[in-house]
Amino acid sequence: MANEKLNIGIILGSTRQGRVSPQIGDWVKGIADQRGDAHYEIVDIADYQLPFIGTTDGTEPGIAAWNAKLAELDGFVFIVQEYNHSISGALKNALDTAREAWNNKAAGIVSYGSTGGARAAEHLRGIMGELMIADVRVHPTLSLFTDFENFTTFKPAELHLNNVNEMLNQVISWSGALKPIRKKP
Ligand SMILES: Cc1cc2nc3c(=O)[nH]c(=O)nc-3n(C[C@H](O)[C@H](O)[C@H](O)COP(=O)(O)O)c2cc1C
Repeated sequence: MANEKLNIGIILGSTRQGRVSPQIGDWVKGIADQRGDAHYEIVDIADYQLPFIGTTDGTEPGIAAWNAKLAELDGFVFIVQEYNHSISGALKNALDTAREAWNNKAAGIVSYGSTGGARAAEHLRGIMGELMIADVRVHPTLSLFTDFENFTTFKPAELHLNNVNEMLNQVISWSGALKPIRKKP
């Protein structure tokens, strides 16, 4: 159906106790839902209890469930936090734990850290190239110093709203454009 809505997953990249990523994910989802242009859902890596890749025989149900969830999605918004100038180990493991389910889809990044998570986001862009995920240009960057209170309570500056919407415009546009080559022959 030409007018079927796209499914976009908002992927929480951190799994540690006390993480702030659910606050950012909920904020992005709130903005996204107001648009009415796609089905948006939070996808929490922590729910899948993924083993560290290669340390088990791969039959854990979470691995299959993770791949099945990604397969349902047409595009992604990664909520990215900076850990030692890169992405979290949890996000890298989750990226490594699927392959075809990532291919020929689009993604945007919303990142945070002392420098807006920019270094982590750039690392993620390199990984996305290998996974054949088309990463869009517009990239909201949130500062731990000015968009959070005490580095823990998320209080985003107003200016980020436009950037989130522009990023979503690009994700929707490219996710839809790539749809024909995702279809099975
Ligand atoms: C192991 C670790 C390394 C971190 N390294 C950086 C860093 O290199 N740059 C930065 O801006 N913030 C760094 N931080 C701060 C995190 O960006 C901040 O704690 C953020 O809230 C983490 O996201 P989360 O709460 O969703 O886990 C680091 C935090 C942790 C736990």
